[in-house]
Amino acid sequence: MNLFIDTANIDEIREIYAWGVLSGCTTNPSIIAKSGRNFIEVIHEICEIVDGPVSAEVVAQDAEGMIREGRLLAQVHPNIVVKVPLLPAGLQACKVLSDEGTRVNMTLCFQPAQALLAGLAGATYISPFIGRVDDLGWDGGDLIRQIVEIYAQNDNIHTQVLAASIRHPIHLIDAALSGADVATVPYSVLKKIVKHPQTDAGNAGFLKDWSAVPQRDVAALATAWLAERGQSHGT
Ligand code: G3P
Repeated sequence: MNLFIDTANIDEIREIYAWGVLSGCTTNPSIIAKSGRNFIEVIHEICEIVDGPVSAEVVAQDAEGMIREGRLLAQVHPNIVVKVPLLPAGLQACKVLSDEGTRVNMTLCFQPAQALLAGLAGATYISPFIGRVDDLGWDGGDLIRQIVEIYAQNDNIHTQVLAASIRHPIHLIDAALSGADVATVPYSVLKKIVKHPQTDAGNAGFLKDWSAVPQRDVAALATAWLAERGQSHGT
């Protein structure tokens, strides 16, 4: 499974991208509005940082407008994936853009039949909103599992399942166990994942014990040991 970040905040993207775990980024009109920046400038900047798919969403509500916006967004950077809402006009736009070779992420998916239509329209990604499904009292994990199963049974569909609306670490685990191809995760959730009290306590314990070791500069010890054997190739 691949991991994307769901944000347009450049500092957040840079920080998490440096971990080496990200292969893409998703945005939506709410996220872009929150950034307070020019849409095109910010998505171009993200594309220059993230070496992978970057979703940029159309806001037109008719197929013609979506296609026009999609064609233009796709020209901003080769990494751009055009994000389109799962409306009838969106399906129409998805088909046209996909046939032209533009990758489309069909968003706001809440039930498996919508995902089937997106797949048939040639979407590269389908974005089921698992957090918002949970909000409605349904199971977002079930939604992912059903979409994965439908796609597996239809050789004519090549759409990847991109789990979205992830609110906490359990959602990410659920997406991974359910067979999602990608999960897009907000910065705050990614930070929670790497903050485990037992990891921190264990690390502090190791450091405390190590502080009693007389020769504790690991780099100096290794450098000396390698130099003695003529094996040092620098760092
Ligand atoms: O990727 C979609 C996501 O941004 C929506 O998340 O938490 O607003 O449901 P949320």
